[in-house]
Amino acid sequence: MEIGITRNVVFVVISMSILILACLSTSDESQSFLQVKPTGCNLYEGKWVYDESYPLFDSSKCPSIRKVFDCFKYGRPDHQYLKYRWQPNGCDLPRFDARDFLRRMKGKKIVFVGDSVSDNHWQSLVCLLNGINTTTSHVTNDAFSTLKFEEYGASITVFLSHYLVDITNEPIGRVLNLDSIKDGEIWKQADVLIFNTWLWWYRKGPKQPWDYIKNDGKIVKDMDRMEAFRKALITWAKWVNSDVNPSKTKVFFQGISPSHYNGKEWNEPSARDCSKETTPLNGTTYPGGVPLALKVLKEVLRSNTSPTKPVHLLDITNLSQLRKDGHPSKYNAFRGMDCTHWCVAGVPDTWNQLLYAELLQGI
Ligand SMILES: *[C@@H]1O[C@H](CO)[C@@H](O)[C@H](O)[C@H]1NC(C)=O
Ligand SMILES: *[C@@H]1O[C@H](CO)[C@@H](O)[C@H](O)[C@H]1NC(C)=O
Ligand SMILES: *[C@@H]1O[C@H](CO)[C@@H](O)[C@H](O)[C@H]1NC(C)=O
Repeated sequence: MEIGITRNVVFVVISMSILILACLSTSDESQSFLQVKPTGCNLYEGKWVYDESYPLFDSSKCPSIRKVFDCFKYGRPDHQYLKYRWQPNGCDLPRFDARDFLRRMKGKKIVFVGDSVSDNHWQSLVCLLNGINTTTSHVTNDAFSTLKFEEYGASITVFLSHYLVDITNEPIGRVLNLDSIKDGEIWKQADVLIFNTWLWWYRKGPKQPWDYIKNDGKIVKDMDRMEAFRKALITWAKWVNSDVNPSKTKVFFQGISPSHYNGKEWNEPSARDCSKETTPLNGTTYPGGVPLALKVLKEVLRSNTSPTKPVHLLDITNLSQLRKDGHPSKYNAFRGMDCTHWCVAGVPDTWNQLLYAELLQGI
């Protein structure tokens, strides 16, 4: 490692988190949440309803939200997008209880693995847990960022992996190896794993971080990207089956996080991005239909994951598709139009409520 390259230096910041929630009750009030998913209730089928009590946290009080997600700080003028609660058809989603979450996660490692959407998800969880009066320490480097809650011995990490499968430097160049997952050795130490990959699969030209693809041991210049995505997911599913210990680790795969650059998908053909969107779509279905990538993901989850190694789909695709209003658009530090990531506070808070609900009922 070269001296002076600070981004490679692991730094540790020990800090006391600011107390926002005044109540420090030690009684276990969590029992009331155990019945969250009555039989027959699909948490992912429902609609967005206006709720004056939202958002779940004040983003201006959450320290260091990444510049790409902090819409409020970068001047987003409309605030109605913060006021929507996800309402499943057959039941209510439990409200996020930060103290209860940490108590349940005592001694556990939660790791988000994936592209910047995983970072978005992690960032929202950091803010949801920010109100707890407990010592935290933050360790970050190029590959990961971990926030530890010392008294609980719990930690939440985001581990950056654009494709889940490896990119290796070989004599011919950078090779996207669809057959191998080396970082799995690190991931499998976690107690809760939440995977996601999709954003990078269609990148070409200078934005493509590899030169060749290795598939079934053969090197090719390129291939059908959806098939490459499928192949990587199959490699990932095989890794889950061979390496993950289901009695220790709970495994989630996040559905496909949708972008909003094509108004035809939400019956507004003149819209070329999300810049004018201030409200969610009404109802339960997205006119643009289900993304092909989600179909591929579901096929792989059905076919390659044996029942002894359960993987839970955090099926956030449909509900996020309805949130054309949830993206930063130009309200981020770099002022570029971003209809891919999500404002924090915002839609990822609901992804975390769903994760919480899944964890509560022991999945
Ligand atoms: C998502 O929407 C599609 C139709 O667009 C529907 O078939 C599917 O059941 C929906 N999934 C959920 C979880 O609501
Ligand atoms: C936060 O917790 C510490 C240690 O338990 C305690 O001493 C302190 O008074 C608490 N702060 C507030 C504002 O309640
Ligand atoms: C959506 O529903 C709200 C409340 O029912 C209504 O006021 C609004 O006009 C609807 N919007 C569309 C586009 O249908």
